[in-house]
Amino acid sequence: MKILFATFFLIISLSLFSQDISINNGWKFKTGDSAVFASSNFNDNDWAPIKIGQSWESQGYENYDGFSWYRLHVIIPSSIKDKAFLKERIRFDLGKIDDGDEFYLNGNLIGRNGGRPGSIKSGQYDAQRAYTLLLNDTRILWDKENVIAVRVWDGGGDGGMYDGKYGISIMDVTDYVNINTSDNNFEFGENKKMAKKILLQSTSDKYDFNGKLRITITDPVSDSVIFKQTIGTDFAKDRPFEYTYKATLPDNRSYVATYSFTENRSGKEIAVSESIPFVLTPKTAATVKINGPNIFGVRPNAPLQYAIPATGARPLVYDVINLPNGLKIDKQTGIITGSLTSKGDYKVRLVVKNKLGSATKSFTIACGNTIGLTPALGWNSWNCWGLSVSDEKVKASAKQMFEKLAGHGWTYINIDDGWEDANRAASGEIVANKKFPDMKSLSNYVHGLGLKLGIYSSPGPRTCGGYLGSYQHEEQDAKTYGDWGIDYVKYDWCSYGNIAPKNPSLDEYKKPYTLMREALNKVNRDIMFSFCQYGMGDVWKWGAEIGGNSWRTTGDINDSWGSLSGIGFSQDKPAPYAQPGHFNDPDMLVVGKVGWGPSLHNSRLTPDEQYTHISLWCLLSSPLLIGCDMSQLDDFTLNLLTNDEVLAIDQDGLGKSARKIFEKDNIQVWVKPLEDGNKAIGIFNLNDKAQKTTINFSDLKLSSQLRLRDLWRQKDLGVFKKSFSIAIPSHGVVLLKTHAEKM
Ligand code: GLA
Repeated sequence: MKILFATFFLIISLSLFSQDISINNGWKFKTGDSAVFASSNFNDNDWAPIKIGQSWESQGYENYDGFSWYRLHVIIPSSIKDKAFLKERIRFDLGKIDDGDEFYLNGNLIGRNGGRPGSIKSGQYDAQRAYTLLLNDTRILWDKENVIAVRVWDGGGDGGMYDGKYGISIMDVTDYVNINTSDNNFEFGENKKMAKKILLQSTSDKYDFNGKLRITITDPVSDSVIFKQTIGTDFAKDRPFEYTYKATLPDNRSYVATYSFTENRSGKEIAVSESIPFVLTPKTAATVKINGPNIFGVRPNAPLQYAIPATGARPLVYDVINLPNGLKIDKQTGIITGSLTSKGDYKVRLVVKNKLGSATKSFTIACGNTIGLTPALGWNSWNCWGLSVSDEKVKASAKQMFEKLAGHGWTYINIDDGWEDANRAASGEIVANKKFPDMKSLSNYVHGLGLKLGIYSSPGPRTCGGYLGSYQHEEQDAKTYGDWGIDYVKYDWCSYGNIAPKNPSLDEYKKPYTLMREALNKVNRDIMFSFCQYGMGDVWKWGAEIGGNSWRTTGDINDSWGSLSGIGFSQDKPAPYAQPGHFNDPDMLVVGKVGWGPSLHNSRLTPDEQYTHISLWCLLSSPLLIGCDMSQLDDFTLNLLTNDEVLAIDQDGLGKSARKIFEKDNIQVWVKPLEDGNKAIGIFNLNDKAQKTTINFSDLKLSSQLRLRDLWRQKDLGVFKKSFSIAIPSHGVVLLKTHAEKM
């Protein structure tokens, strides 16, 4: 059996948290800090209600950083003990908390920051908090009202009890069972055959396990079961149970596999589900195709570098017809270099050949004041490596980008936080730390591959990761970046919060970015400038005028549906401000292996959610910065990043963002106008279940007859009159393009 997916798993629902008492609703909230907020006697009647499972920023506390408290009054009935086979401990699941927390029960401090040592201020924002107590602990008030108080610290960006699982439960024997779906990958063979190995593991020294394992595959659209199997199991801590199931999938689309284990003694069942990945992008052809945008911006006299993105059987031979004086093309690598002295639009023709034939494409080199005319396509180290980024990891990513992605237009290799040394040189110059022995040689390596190199800093004295920022060294840093050959600077507000006044005016928000833009302009390089200040002061309204090529519109993204959908579907407000050279940035991609630190995991988004992610970001004309370990790109992730018809939506020269045109019953339709007069249309199902939907063209203000193309499958669907109907899996998308052909 051929292995198509090097690494892949996705858990989409986890019923390991069998909750006896739901604590999803009824929370009260107050910003600020006081020891009395922990007390059960404290009167919180006038506190504001708040939802958990989403940040406080999204609920009217915009940009609030610092301490705050959540409180909940809840009765814990002693009857929940009766249902449990084991009667040892009770568990409070409090979800993920950004950044740190302390949990109080009836005025007593039970634990801090998910049980990790250290202060609440060094919280693990991404860790699920679970606090346990023995059932005979006198701090629990059985059959009476209990007060849960959670003290939260947020150091920057979004804050609060923002995601995860919530509930109070008696821990049972099944809590010691792990259904492991992540150690092994899906394997796909011919004729839609698949196989997957799963493991049943025990984490208990005390108990052995016996029971039944039920495997079911369902079609999430029709809810019909397409495969089922039940097997007897027997396992212990040193003796896991392994099983490989084999199934044939009816089609190339979304299916969900569920593994449930019923334990013999307690009769309790636990279950885990995962979506099975499916590849929609057709295989890249051996014939030549020129990809990427139709336009590229450069400033007069600045060194130009543009690698013609093309796919097809190698070797490829490149040429440019009408290349203006001052520029030259390397026919073997396809890299155009040189510089232009006069402003103007230079219309050229790109030509690429291989043994099977040739392709040509009209292309404009626009020499003027604006660069980054289409959104940046690249990679950034943060969502995978966090502060553990190194020269080696950056080079490995560059090599992979060159080999697998550059032909589709991917260009930037951006180093995020964690490259800076502890001290500046005596001259005041910024120095890279030991992990980056030679920045200049790194940039030569990256440029040699036809790619570009980006770097990260803060206008404050410190970056968000605590490294040195550019405060009071702006010109010096810009010059150093120029000397190193940097092409992209991400500039992150972070500790500038301590420099700016408490409630900054618009001018104060602009000040540090204007200062650095001016410093970068003095360097004779085209340096893309990416503002990272999470949308403060409605940055989309003024980011372009002070020279931002992109600006973050929100706090940090993570690989959960809550984060992805919260960010992605709230982008209608900044949408009108996207324009060539200046784009909204809803943060970097969370597909593939991510982790924000040395250890990585597969993105926890389902395949449908990942199609939604890429489709929506392209519709929004967002910079696309891959956030995963590029040396572990599996076939599914590659399929997301190499669909040229999808990428063309992002790279469209008109530079407009899609707007949300229609919303009903958790279906949203976003429409993006394109340079050729056509429209790109994303129909999204935000529901937890699959939905059939009919979209009336009149609701989208489109003509009553449309020829539609499915962009992921790169397939014409035909001509539709008045409406288009489709079934979309939970959190999935259909990405369409209208066609101008006369009907
Ligand atoms: C902030 C930014 C992230 C990343 C980190 C680095 O959180 O929003 O994208 O750059 O800082 O510390």
